[in-house]
Amino acid sequence: MSKIALITGITGQDGSYLAEFLLKKNYKIYGIVRRNSTVFNYKNIDHIKNELNLRYGDLTESSSLFSVISEIINDNKEFSVFEIYNLGAQSHVKISFEIPEYTTNVDATGTLKLLDCIKNLSENIRNKIRFYQASTSEMYGAVLEVPQKETTPFNPQSPYACAKVYSHFLVKNYREGYNLFACSGILFNHESQRRGDNFVTKKVINYVKSIKNKGSLEIDNNIKPLKMGNINSKRDWGHAKDYINGMWLMLQQDNPDDYVLAMGQTTTVRDFINISFLKIGIKLKWQGESVDEKGYDEKTNTVLVEINKKYFRPCEVELLIGDSSKARNKLGWKPEYDTLDKLIDDMLDY
Ligand code: NAP
Ligand code: GDD
Repeated sequence: MSKIALITGITGQDGSYLAEFLLKKNYKIYGIVRRNSTVFNYKNIDHIKNELNLRYGDLTESSSLFSVISEIINDNKEFSVFEIYNLGAQSHVKISFEIPEYTTNVDATGTLKLLDCIKNLSENIRNKIRFYQASTSEMYGAVLEVPQKETTPFNPQSPYACAKVYSHFLVKNYREGYNLFACSGILFNHESQRRGDNFVTKKVINYVKSIKNKGSLEIDNNIKPLKMGNINSKRDWGHAKDYINGMWLMLQQDNPDDYVLAMGQTTTVRDFINISFLKIGIKLKWQGESVDEKGYDEKTNTVLVEINKKYFRPCEVELLIGDSSKARNKLGWKPEYDTLDKLIDDMLDY
């Protein structure tokens, strides 16, 4: 009896690590991919793509979701379990202010399309399906409790977070109303070498690596500073590989439930930048206020970091710090990358 998984968002950071993880556990894996007009967008899964069953589809298109799920059920008559991981999303918070309607179509209504497709299957098939929803700490927004846990009320601050709150409650509604085995993982920020280039950690790491490759700062007066947005916000950062394991554990329990995954430590973006530069032997000193603040190499006085308003968000989430006691106690979830230092080392070594 085979174990099957369908991953939406398989080409992304989490989807690609999850696919690797499930392959090692002998799952037959299907993944939904989107057409790209110029290149195959398979960088993160290139090394395993021959072991995957990739199908074109889109969370905005019900018929594509229905076709893929029907095909999987028809082609795998004897499956013991069918896990569906809904990781696909327009996942960039700042961009969600620029394309709010699209973000809602993918991150909110997309989940509805997928859940409805499962709800309409025959009962004997539905009973073998387990559903994971990628909920997020962004739902806590302007936080109403510190640290944030499963019972903390949501106070979303972006179209992205509002869409994710909708999906989160829909999962609960379908679990209670239709008895679906559906879980939401409320994951705090998790990063890796596969993080998209326009998220803050990867942007900083890419810049630091480019400076390292230049060699000595003294011989180069043409360095363009790293342009940053709000460097005072705080995030609870962990490693994506650890968070994948947590997603899977949620679906292996006797009963469906929601869990927070977090490290329980919070760090400013400023400190993330400081630590990353220190890793290549550069100590930054900060001078100036607000948008005029700059980060200088203490030794050479070269400006390495500047603030640019264009990266500010209409509403900011200032502080995230999670309490993952429930996942640690009930799932036995224990991250291996247990310090920010280990995460940064891993990202720098790519
Ligand atoms: P990511 O790297 O941005 O990957 C997003 C994935 O979704 C990509 O595979 C993307 O495909 C796919 N996608 C985008 N629009 C789609 C659509 N219309 N239909 C189908 N697929 C679509 O995100 P991630 O960091 O791996 O995060 C995975 C999930 O967890 C997301 O739902 C995110 O919102 C959520 N989350 C992430 C974090 C975090 O810190 N990373 C924390 C909490 C929750 P393309 O490659 O074609 O763009
Ligand atoms: N992206 C980006 N670029 N963020 C910046 C920059 C910059 O140049 N400068 C400062 N920041 C600040 C943002 O304003 C935010 O406070 C923080 O850095 C983190 O930004 P991101 O890395 O873009 O992540 P995020 O916290 O907004 O969202 C990520 O984590 C969520 C979980 O809490 C995404 O992965 C979401 O999909 C995820 O749900």
